[in-house]
Amino acid sequence: MLLMNELDPLKANAARMYDLFLGGKDNYVVDRDAVAALMEVFPEAPQLARANRVFALDAIQRAARSGIRQFLDIGAGLPTSPNVFEVAGQYPGTRVVGVDNDPVVLSHCRARPPMGGVVDQSIVVIDGDVRCPEAIFADWQLRDVLDLEQPVAVLLAAVLHFVGDIDDPAAIVTRIRQRLAPGSVIALSHACSTGSDPTAVDHITKIYSDSDVRLHFRPEDQIRSLLSGVDLAHPGWTDVQHWPASPTLDLPETFGELVRADNDPYRAPPKARMVATVTAPVPG
Ligand SMILES: C[S@@+](CC[C@H](N)C(=O)[O-])C[C@H]1O[C@@H](n2cnc3c(N)ncnc32)[C@H](O)[C@@H]1O
Repeated sequence: MLLMNELDPLKANAARMYDLFLGGKDNYVVDRDAVAALMEVFPEAPQLARANRVFALDAIQRAARSGIRQFLDIGAGLPTSPNVFEVAGQYPGTRVVGVDNDPVVLSHCRARPPMGGVVDQSIVVIDGDVRCPEAIFADWQLRDVLDLEQPVAVLLAAVLHFVGDIDDPAAIVTRIRQRLAPGSVIALSHACSTGSDPTAVDHITKIYSDSDVRLHFRPEDQIRSLLSGVDLAHPGWTDVQHWPASPTLDLPETFGELVRADNDPYRAPPKARMVATVTAPVPG
C-alpha cells in the first residue's frame, strides 16, 4: 500500500525546497541547507523552478481560455504565489482539485485563502499519490468537485520525475488518460538528462537522494514517450524557460524578469534541463 510521506523534520523536503526556489517562506533550515548545496553546482535552479511554475500557470490559462473549467493538479506543491488556485480562480465557474502526498503541502493548501476571496465548494486538496491514479479518480472529494464526464485539464508539472521506473511513469500517464473525457488536456514537465551537464545531474540527484524523495532525470526521448500517440499543442516539447507563456499572465516582477532573461538567446543554457508540453484536447 502507498502511504503518505512521513514528516521528518531532519530531512530536506522536495516541496519545501521548491517553495524556496520560488521565493516562498514555507521552508525550514534543513531545506535551505540542501538548496544552498544544490546551488553550488546548479545556481540556475530558482530560475528553472520559476519557469516551470510559469509553464504550469500558462497551461491553466490556456485551458481556461479554451473553455475548460475543471483542473486536476497532481503533485500540486505548496501554494507559493503565483499559484494554480489564483490563476484558475480568475475564471468564473472554475473547479480545482489539488493532489499531493506530502502532509505539509496538504495542510498549507487547505489553509490557503479561498479562491476569489470567498469561501466556496469548488476547490479541494486531497491526499493522493500519482502512482495510484485509480485511487485519485475514485476519491469521493474529487468526485464531489469534478464532473468526469466533462473535460478536465490535468497538470503533471514537475512530479513524474519523483516516480521511479519501477512504478512505470508511462503506464501512469496512460491510466490517467483512460479516465479523461474527450476534450481534456494534459500538461507535463519533467527533469531531462539529455543536454544537461552530467556533473550537475549527479550532484542534484545526490542532494535529492538525501531528501524525502528521489529525483529521476530521464532522457528526452523517454520523457516524450510519456505522451506518445497524443497530439501536442503548439509548440510541442520545449525547455520550460522557453515556454511561450502568454504576456497576459499576471506574474510578480521577480518571475517576469527571470522569464524575460531566460529568453535571452545569449544567456548560457542552465546546467540541468526541464522540458514541458501541453497536449491538444485528447479524444478520450
Ligand atoms: C516540485 S513540486 C511541483 C509543484 C507544482 N506542480 C509546480 O510544478 O509548480 C513537486 C510536488 O510533487 C509532490 N509529489 C512527489 N511525489 C509525489 C507522488 N508520488 N504523488 C503525489 N505527489 C507527489 C511533492 O510533494 C511536491 O509537492
